[in-house]
Amino acid sequence: MEYTTLGHTGLKVSVAGLGCGGPSRLGMRNDAEGEKNALAIIRQAIDLGINFLDTAQNYGTETVVGKAIAGIPRERLVISTKKTLPPADHPDPQADVRKGLEQSLKALGTNYIDVYHLHGVEPKDYEFAKNRLLPAMRQAREEGKIRFIGVTEGFVQDPSHEMLRESLEEDLWDVVMLGFNLLNPSARRTVFPLTQQKRVGVLDMFAVRRALSQMARLQELCGELIQKGIFRNGAVNAAEPLDFVLRESDAKTLPEAAYRFCRHEYGIDVVLTGTGNLDHLKSNVESMLKPALPNAVLKKLEDLFGNLDYLTGN
Ligand SMILES: NC(=O)c1ccc[n+]([C@@H]2O[C@H](COP(=O)([O-])OP(=O)(O)OC[C@H]3O[C@@H](n4cnc5c(N)ncnc54)[C@H](OP(=O)(O)O)[C@@H]3O)[C@@H](O)[C@H]2O)c1
Repeated sequence: MEYTTLGHTGLKVSVAGLGCGGPSRLGMRNDAEGEKNALAIIRQAIDLGINFLDTAQNYGTETVVGKAIAGIPRERLVISTKKTLPPADHPDPQADVRKGLEQSLKALGTNYIDVYHLHGVEPKDYEFAKNRLLPAMRQAREEGKIRFIGVTEGFVQDPSHEMLRESLEEDLWDVVMLGFNLLNPSARRTVFPLTQQKRVGVLDMFAVRRALSQMARLQELCGELIQKGIFRNGAVNAAEPLDFVLRESDAKTLPEAAYRFCRHEYGIDVVLTGTGNLDHLKSNVESMLKPALPNAVLKKLEDLFGNLDYLTGN
């Protein structure tokens, strides 16, 4: 494993992080009995050198993370979890943050969270999050229950990072989690200059998602873009979109190329990988330890997708 420093937090984190949510939720989304497999995934991640684990109040995986890490010296791990936003008309939103935090601490079996995020803050939620929720997060930080404050964007609703662009103008977050992948690298232009200037830690989600792990979905997505005339004539092969990536690099699969693409992006500290499959986890970590894709491939990807800021990879 390779390690880096998460922005100004000083936390030493593995460059690959385990995402305990996403479509797979450690394999527990479609399998309520999947705890055994989920435990095996978390333990394998730790054996592979991953020390960054990302979960959330609403993933249903905090308890299994707590079980998997019981007995491991706490300081060896960096635990990230998230508070679901209460409704804007909640009578006491700060009490809701405090309650959620206590539940997360209990489920995870720890007395502090390293990075505690507000979860999926969309542009419409921003003022509410800043004015009504953040004070409780700051209080929790003063009490030592959380070490750093983070925010995650609602990438599906906000693929051009409007919330982050606005909020990074203010000094609110120690860490941000955003969507970045080879189909939507727009954060490179709009977000990373701000996070780098303020040394805010950056966590990447959606590196692969559906479009870069399922050929049928990629064909469908690129078919739509070809129809809309987004690409120069013939620039993308509708039957085998992105075929040049594997032809002109040593990457064996598209997920491998997609994780490598994100791992070597200057501006990203940790790339999350979400999976319920032990073999996928192992190969994803191996992928992230491989060199960057060749410049010629990166240039072609930039020509095709560099100016698009509305795809998510779903
Ligand atoms: N707003 C938010 O706060 C937010 C939103 C979304 C995600 N997140 C966090 O970010 C993490 C990462 O996001 P994600 O889980 O969507 O990420 P991802 O790693 O981009 O995609 C995961 C999907 O790709 C598949 N996959 C992974 N490796 C594969 C491989 N080698 N070959 C084929 N398919 C593969 C997985 O299925 P298999 O199970 O079959 O491997 C899963 O369906 C989440 O787990 C969560 O912690 C946060």
